[in-house]
Amino acid sequence: MYFLRLALSLTCAAGSLVAALPAVQKRASVCNGHAELCNRSYGNITFLGAHDSFAYGDNPPDLAADQEVDMVSQLNLGVRLLQAQSHINDIDGQLHFCHTSCFLYDYGTVQEYLTVINGWLSQNPNEVLTFIFTNPDGASLPDVWAPAFEGSGIVDLMYTPPTVPMKQSDWPTLGQLIDSGKRVILFMDAGADTDRSVPYILPEFEMVWETPFSVTDASFPCSVDRIAGPLTTEDHMYMINHSFNINLFDTGIIISDPEDAPTTNSVTSIMDNAAGCEQFAAGRAPNFVLLDFVDLGQGLQAVNQLNGL
Ligand SMILES: *[C@@H]1O[C@H](CO)[C@@H](O)[C@H](O)[C@H]1NC(C)=O
Ligand SMILES: *[C@@H]1O[C@H](CO)[C@@H](O)[C@H](O)[C@H]1NC(C)=O
Ligand SMILES: *[C@@H]1O[C@H](CO)[C@@H](O)[C@H](O)[C@H]1NC(C)=O
Repeated sequence: MYFLRLALSLTCAAGSLVAALPAVQKRASVCNGHAELCNRSYGNITFLGAHDSFAYGDNPPDLAADQEVDMVSQLNLGVRLLQAQSHINDIDGQLHFCHTSCFLYDYGTVQEYLTVINGWLSQNPNEVLTFIFTNPDGASLPDVWAPAFEGSGIVDLMYTPPTVPMKQSDWPTLGQLIDSGKRVILFMDAGADTDRSVPYILPEFEMVWETPFSVTDASFPCSVDRIAGPLTTEDHMYMINHSFNINLFDTGIIISDPEDAPTTNSVTSIMDNAAGCEQFAAGRAPNFVLLDFVDLGQGLQAVNQLNGL
């Protein structure tokens, strides 16, 4: 901005100089930490993801926490996909991020969460971030979700693609997203497929498929679990849900296991899971690697390797 103003005042001061000056254009030269990523399509990049990003705490004793560190720490570790589960809190009637139920783990309101993330983004202008939010209570997109985006200020950064669904190969580059100022992409599991009245809330499964969740098999067999819409499987992006769970005392209660996180989040385990999925994606790596306890193991190292960095 400053440079632009300077250049403009220069051209005013010396009209004859105008022809000699190259077009002044602000172009991102580092994108998500790497110059190499600026020219790569968003659809051709692997991003590190935090499952239940809002549900952090000591684990144990907090069995409902899937992360050990807060969202800002996750972002500072290199996480660029934040996943979160919403629920209407019965007490205040507001939309909160809660794990399974607001009785079990309540982060606070979605607007409070988005305000924190918006603060980080304003300090980190060359970063593209993705959200995958779940909407199990079917909260209204225009009446409940949109006000949280507006109230937090993050609405100004939200990207709306020219068509929905967009093919994996049609997405802009990270550089284009950053230069446009619209560098936050939001996928939602339910609601956006039928209600397109909030254009930046995108129907997840029409563009991103997922591997099964609640995996209790450490070998992470790959299959296309949730997918929708007219695009072929190969034209979708995809996310590997790479969290290993234990069946608590054979009760059928599935919880994530921090003891196992260093193994699950190792380069070997992540690369094996990715390799098992590439058959469904014309040999492409996953777009999102969703982990529990992102501060443990080698998630970023695996993602950098998948990106060829
Ligand atoms: C990105 O691509 C453009 C043309 O498509 C090229 O001029 C530019 O040098 C490339 N930048 C990088 C960092 O590779
Ligand atoms: C990006 O494209 C390269 C080259 O085709 C491929 O090896 C890589 O797996 C792709 N990554 C993603 C996430 O699509
Ligand atoms: C990934 O798996 C967990 C359970 O292991 C599940 O709760 C979660 O919803 C899955 N992630 C997504 C994005 O669906």
